[in-house]
Amino acid sequence: MDKIQLDYNKLCLCTEALRCALEHRDIHTQRHSQRVIALSEALGIACQLSATEIGILKISASLHDIGKIGIPDNILLKPGTLEPDQWLIMKSHAQKGEDIIKKLEIQNTPAIANIVRHHHEHYDGQGYPDQLSGEQIPILSRILSVADSYDAITQSRSYHQAKTHHQAMQIIHGEKGTKLDPKIVDLFALLIETSQYKAQ
Ligand SMILES: [Fe+2]
Repeated sequence: MDKIQLDYNKLCLCTEALRCALEHRDIHTQRHSQRVIALSEALGIACQLSATEIGILKISASLHDIGKIGIPDNILLKPGTLEPDQWLIMKSHAQKGEDIIKKLEIQNTPAIANIVRHHHEHYDGQGYPDQLSGEQIPILSRILSVADSYDAITQSRSYHQAKTHHQAMQIIHGEKGTKLDPKIVDLFALLIETSQYKAQ
């Protein structure tokens, strides 16, 4: 077993209680995380990342929404659209996740915390929390954003019905250069066709 795998297992042990608590509040969390890890890893390989970078990416994907543990239930689980003040609180999950990860005693903690902080930045600078744009956004955050977007669109949530693969790819292609990195979307469009995580 190589070092990345050891670190990943250690991380799972460190965060098991946190993840369990979050799952009890949001039942979609566990399977969502598993799919986002797998899709992120496939994208990381397609982007020719190093083994170390892919290890960091998988840990970041595993914990990308851990900050939602700090979001009140009436906002986290609200069916329908959030009010502007509620949306501000929901968006704080990126920084809350960064804060939680910084407390973990694992290798590459600063890098993982930074990737989680920026997983909702948009390519055109209209995301959050820091309005980074283009290649200012860490590449692992840009990869995570594409994988997270596809899975969120194709799964039912309290605020929307699941869309088909075809519908999801129309949305994702429409977000090239605005929300998502165009080059990473193009790689994703190729690899998802043969992925076990391709939606119906
Ligand atoms: Fe998120």
